[in-house]
Amino acid sequence: MADLKLIDPCNRHLNYLRISITDRCNLKCIYCVPRDQIARLAHDEILTYEEILRFVRVGLTLGISKIRITGGEPLVRKGVYGFLTELSRMAGISDLSLTTNAVVLKDSLEKIRSAGIKRLNISLDTLKREKFKKIAGMDFFDQVWQGIQGAREMGFHPIKLNIVALNGVNDDELIDMAQLSFDYPFHIRFIEYMPIGESQMGNGPLLLAPEIKKRISVLGNLIPVRNSASDGPAQRYRFEGALGEIGFIHALSHHFCDRCNRLRLTARGQLRPCLLSDRHEDVKGPLRSGCSDKELAEIFFKAVRHKPSDHNLSVQGPSRVCGQMHSIGG
Ligand code: 5AD
Repeated sequence: MADLKLIDPCNRHLNYLRISITDRCNLKCIYCVPRDQIARLAHDEILTYEEILRFVRVGLTLGISKIRITGGEPLVRKGVYGFLTELSRMAGISDLSLTTNAVVLKDSLEKIRSAGIKRLNISLDTLKREKFKKIAGMDFFDQVWQGIQGAREMGFHPIKLNIVALNGVNDDELIDMAQLSFDYPFHIRFIEYMPIGESQMGNGPLLLAPEIKKRISVLGNLIPVRNSASDGPAQRYRFEGALGEIGFIHALSHHFCDRCNRLRLTARGQLRPCLLSDRHEDVKGPLRSGCSDKELAEIFFKAVRHKPSDHNLSVQGPSRVCGQMHSIGG
């Protein structure tokens, strides 16, 4: 493995690159998509697969070893399976995974597996069909559930189910969601809603991890699972006798910035050192004006030098992040 050269001023070792390959999505989730119509990026505004692969190649020489593909919804971009195949063939990637809303997952599973993906993160905010339509704007619950079950049957593991916890929307289902970890080997991840961009959520009280933990503890004792270095920010638990796990991503109630090892490449070709800060470095311009690999490496270093030590989202405070979730990729 390449020596890790991406060490920021806070001594955080950045080895994880999340790549949004499209800002387009086949859902319109209330916590992600803005109220007002959004302008989609034109095709030539987003990085080509070749451009992304070149940037990744440089990242691998600097110690990037973990890659996640996100969107929008990554599976709606044409050519995605070929791209994933190319990525998975690159030496130096120890962990390659995909985040999807699973709308088209069922029919894509073979192709995803052949492309070399073993791990999936799937957004699932409700177990009720009607509510799914309300949250996501589309009546696709059945497809999503079939996609999740299909992935399990094909042996994808772990399958992480991401639930954005929303007061007054899905807070009545926390226990049912947690129960899934008894019935299936899924990793259920409760994510605190992050008020960034212009989503359709109001400014009501937020549903935070300690409260979720309290409510689901009627199902049993939550036994801590030791995090491994590559785990990222989730606080992991398991109910006694359960097949799967429970995780909490508590971006607001407990900042985990000191352990953050991520950089994000957006679909429009910006390298962001922090999800919750609008600071970014332009990658697309240099890529398209014939820059050298050394110059691309410099872009990584610049982003790393400017990675904020902490984010400024708080439980009460208004959002100070303008970037939209659907184009950064979560
Ligand atoms: N707050 C918290 N999580 C979010 N996601 C998308 N928007 C938000 C938000 N505003 C999560 C979804 C998706 C992942 C990529 O990001 O759960 O699974």
